[in-house]
Amino acid sequence: MGKKEEESSGVEVHELNLNDKTEIGRGMDMTGRCALITGGGSGIGRGCAEMLAQAGADVVIVGRREAKLRQVQEGILAAGGSCEIYPADLTADENCERMAAFCLEKFGRIDILVNSAGSTGKRGTLEEEMAADNFGKTMAVDFNAVFAACRSVIPTMKAQKSGSIINIASLAALQARGPIVYSAAKGAVRSFSRSLAGQLGADNVRVNSVYPGFIVTEMTENIEQYPEQAAALRAESVLNAFGHVEDIAYCVWYLASDAAKFVTGQEFVIDGGTTIK
Ligand SMILES: NC(=O)c1ccc[n+]([C@@H]2O[C@H](COP(=O)([O-])OP(=O)(O)OC[C@H]3O[C@@H](n4cnc5c(N)ncnc54)[C@H](OP(=O)(O)O)[C@@H]3O)[C@@H](O)[C@H]2O)c1
Repeated sequence: MGKKEEESSGVEVHELNLNDKTEIGRGMDMTGRCALITGGGSGIGRGCAEMLAQAGADVVIVGRREAKLRQVQEGILAAGGSCEIYPADLTADENCERMAAFCLEKFGRIDILVNSAGSTGKRGTLEEEMAADNFGKTMAVDFNAVFAACRSVIPTMKAQKSGSIINIASLAALQARGPIVYSAAKGAVRSFSRSLAGQLGADNVRVNSVYPGFIVTEMTENIEQYPEQAAALRAESVLNAFGHVEDIAYCVWYLASDAAKFVTGQEFVIDGGTTIK
């Protein structure tokens, strides 16, 4: 991107060099960036890790199941990428602090945090879903861990005067759908992301949230065993389709990159049009 100083106002004007084809997409090169990705052992988190690594980032993936993390790491390394794993249960605040410290120790910086770890919690009657035990466990992973993970990277990002935090929420934050505690937790992620963006803008740390529609992952893949339910769910989307992890990963890549340097506090709904109905 060519830069031109405007003589009269001193305002910097950026112009694309139309003769340089390599300029297109340069803002999305992730070389030299370090991305910390929770829930990176499967599903959307895995897709984000693989895409960011392919774009040149050093990635650190976090989740409880070490075998899952190793599998993703092996794939990324075999493709020539850079990946470290940090097995941990993020419902313990101290583990969020430790994963950030691990990231710093390995790569010396934290440029991107993707909060993808999550669980729908119990699906049952209202009373079952509202039981104290389910409330505590579901909030712990779907909101508290997001909050603690952000807290753990903020000092580094503020000191760097740059950073991008991307929180994976859900349509359950926007509509009356999904288990009730999951919905409450994702709603909290939504308003927290917006408020945090307001607090961190002055330090050039951006915070955005993403709202996936029905995405085929480990969490949801058994849906095809129930053809009628699958057809009804597909029909919720105006595209009559399910989404795939790359549909979310492309958005996360954009938000993580300099291409989105003017984007913060925003909500990205990637749902095949489900919410326009
Ligand atoms: N798939 C969809 O249709 C959809 C739609 C809307 C929103 N989402 C959101 O997208 C995110 C990713 O979900 P997904 O569909 O990719 O499902 P997934 O494959 O089940 O991913 C969830 C990840 O979170 C990790 N995790 C869960 N509890 C954890 C804990 N206590 N500590 C550390 N890691 C933990 C899991 O790893 P371990 O089990 O190894 O810990 C797993 O890798 C979630 O926040 C989910 O709510 C998904």
